[in-house]
Amino acid sequence: MISATPDDRPLGIQILGDDFEIIKGALDIISGYNFDLIDLNAACPVDKVVSGGKGAGLLRAPVKLQKLLKEISTHTDLPVTVKIRSGWDETSVNAVEIALRAEDAGVKGLFIHGRTKTQGYSGTVDYNIIQKVKESLKIPVVASGDGLTPNLIRKMFDETGCDGVAVARGALGNPWIFSETAEYLRSGAAPPGPDIYEIAQIMKKHLALNTAFHGEKIGILIFRKLFAWYVRGLSVKQLRSRAFQSCSYDDMLRLIGELQLLQDKCHVPALL
Ligand SMILES: Cc1cc2nc3c(=O)[nH]c(=O)nc-3n(C[C@H](O)[C@H](O)[C@H](O)COP(=O)(O)O)c2cc1C
Repeated sequence: MISATPDDRPLGIQILGDDFEIIKGALDIISGYNFDLIDLNAACPVDKVVSGGKGAGLLRAPVKLQKLLKEISTHTDLPVTVKIRSGWDETSVNAVEIALRAEDAGVKGLFIHGRTKTQGYSGTVDYNIIQKVKESLKIPVVASGDGLTPNLIRKMFDETGCDGVAVARGALGNPWIFSETAEYLRSGAAPPGPDIYEIAQIMKKHLALNTAFHGEKIGILIFRKLFAWYVRGLSVKQLRSRAFQSCSYDDMLRLIGELQLLQDKCHVPALL
């Protein structure tokens, strides 16, 4: 899971845990690799994670989290960051307190998803709490949540004053989001976006790399989901369901070829 290519720089690694004795073991393993930063996950909302007090569970234990971050920062020479949510639930939005404690513990940057743990991925992102966190800290704040299009990424910058925006779901099947957003932020003009031919070309490359990395069997299983993400918003229901039944590289390649032939028949919706 920590495989990377030489181009992936700067390269961080995220750890999940609430017990420094165990985390120390992870840090010692990490020290044998060439990472640029270590991030502690205090944001994961998955039940089996939070029930043990890890991930977003740490938001309910601000003093413990502060101590943990201090211990991690002292144990490693690498910069340490933390990823948080706005709070546990709407009655306990404590991101500012958590963020100040994290800064005090010596973290060098903070990532914040502007939703509570109980929100999961539902409801809207709380730009206001991210802005308050940004105003309270001296260290860089990277905002996360619904950065799904260049316009929404700009909105996150505008509403919060954050130093950076982390893009997650918006990049699934849409690697163009980064260059398009950079262009949009520079020029203010709506980027043209890829056409079906370009999408299919990148899918072919992705399919080949994915298969070379994971092997054909696992690679194709993974690519079924990737296929669906790439064609999100396109009227190609049949192709999508055939991709979910596809079992071989050649078959998947054929489906991408069919997609490419729809170049003039199928409209790619603008993602602004
Ligand atoms: C499939 C998936 C896996 C994720 N895994 C992690 C993770 O391991 N660590 C983490 O800090 N956030 C993780 N996230 C959360 C994202 O980093 C991000 O905060 C969240 O998806 C909101 O941003 P978005 O609206 O741009 O997707 C994950 C999100 C998704 C959809």
